[in-house]
Amino acid sequence: MSKIWVKKPMSAYEADIKKSQLKRVLGKWSLTAIGIGAIIGGGIFVLTGTGAYYNAGPALALSFVIAGIACVFAALCYAEFASILPVEGSAYAYAYGTVGEIFAWIIGWGLILEYAMGSMTVAVSWSGYFAKLLKMFGLHLPAYLTSDPQTYIAAGNSGFSMNLPAFLIVFFVISILVRGTKGAAKANNFIVILKVSAIIFVIVAGAFIILNSAEPFKNWVPFIPDPTTITENGVSHSAYGLAGVVAGASAIFFAYVGFDAVSTQAGEAINPKKDVPFAIIASLIICTLLYILVSLVLTGMMHYTDFNPLGKYPDAIKAPVAYAFDIAGYAWAGYIITIAATIGLISVLMVMIMGQSRIFLGMSKDGLIPATFSKVNPKTGVPTKNLLILGVVIAIIASLTPINDLAHMTSFGTLFAFTMVCVAVWVLRVKEPNLQRNFKVPALPLIACLGIAINVYLIFNLSKEAQMYSFAWLIIGFFVYFLYSKKHSKLQNGGFGETFKAEQEPLEKPDIDL
Ligand code: ALA
Repeated sequence: MSKIWVKKPMSAYEADIKKSQLKRVLGKWSLTAIGIGAIIGGGIFVLTGTGAYYNAGPALALSFVIAGIACVFAALCYAEFASILPVEGSAYAYAYGTVGEIFAWIIGWGLILEYAMGSMTVAVSWSGYFAKLLKMFGLHLPAYLTSDPQTYIAAGNSGFSMNLPAFLIVFFVISILVRGTKGAAKANNFIVILKVSAIIFVIVAGAFIILNSAEPFKNWVPFIPDPTTITENGVSHSAYGLAGVVAGASAIFFAYVGFDAVSTQAGEAINPKKDVPFAIIASLIICTLLYILVSLVLTGMMHYTDFNPLGKYPDAIKAPVAYAFDIAGYAWAGYIITIAATIGLISVLMVMIMGQSRIFLGMSKDGLIPATFSKVNPKTGVPTKNLLILGVVIAIIASLTPINDLAHMTSFGTLFAFTMVCVAVWVLRVKEPNLQRNFKVPALPLIACLGIAINVYLIFNLSKEAQMYSFAWLIIGFFVYFLYSKKHSKLQNGGFGETFKAEQEPLEKPDIDL
């Protein structure tokens, strides 16, 4: 039983890195673009209305600050890890070398919620934006091709249905990913430029509209509305006040999901120990600033109560940024935003699936999941079979399942991984203070404690259903571990050969400069 806490020795990581067939093609800015590519997506274009109306009012910007701080603590911890262990696998790989196998396994299992389930959520959101885009050009897709069966039947229909656009976009993304990371990074760079330009457009055009209105700042007063209870369809929930600002941070957390994807690409970075920490922190800071400005502009253009789905603009909450421009009389700006969001979501999907495949690659190399997932195509330098299996599973589930709780479960998986990374980086600092670290978290005990506290707090603010389902997912993970992974683990079976013995010896400097 005690073997479940076995730790992967640094020498095994070193051997993994030397044997890796992945191609090192990603520089500092491509990595930063990967972070931004994964972060900016449907979250900022959709969840802002929900956060403003149901939780924080104009103080939504403060909710973005709180969620941003939770991420910064985790990002610093990720950065320290990435500067020590530049391997694919992200939080899973970090935990394997520090806290032990079972802990690493459950983090890897939890990361499936973040990346694979995140991909399904994004595929379905993309389908929604795509349908809107077609509508702009006067085209309509029939409901049976844009709804999962459950939603379709609940709407009073009968017969076959599937979310076809969600299904197809996954395969489109897979077709880019299997060609190689360099091409995927290029496509990502292009999309990132486009969506960051769209966000800057929203900020500048929105500020212009606010400043040219009769009473520019009236929608921001009071900035933090008094606490109240909102009752809708017989269900009541508390909103606004400081508690509302914090609840808002959980509600919009999904918008931040993705910056840690940079750490899954360390195996393809040219200078991983320096550039991965840089890219993690840079992409997060850039997106946090953009998000705060977008939320200020949005609540400045439109009074937060106007996002009421039972009020005079019932659809505004579904696409708040586009509607804010529409209502202000600039419908064309709403079109630009819809186009940017539709294209922008493709890069989120791309980075999420790429991240999941690299986490599986790391877990498979360690024997915890089948070996198929670690077969790298020598020509393209990417794990083709791994990507194809993921593509099929993600496409099928995304096209046939309702996604109401998926976004919250994605946030759960992410917050869970963030918490664990804060724990693990601290454990490693205490146990191995002399390891070479190119980046060190300042005041680590404080930052780690704050990171753990704020991330756990945000987990408890997620919907109860999401907490329950995610918890059930983790329990299933333990069964899989004891029934399959533990038996096949290379570490449990001496599969790392000599390197396994090295675990018993004190760790020396993990000399894995590349
Ligand atoms: N942060 C990503 C989004 O908002 C997942 O779509």
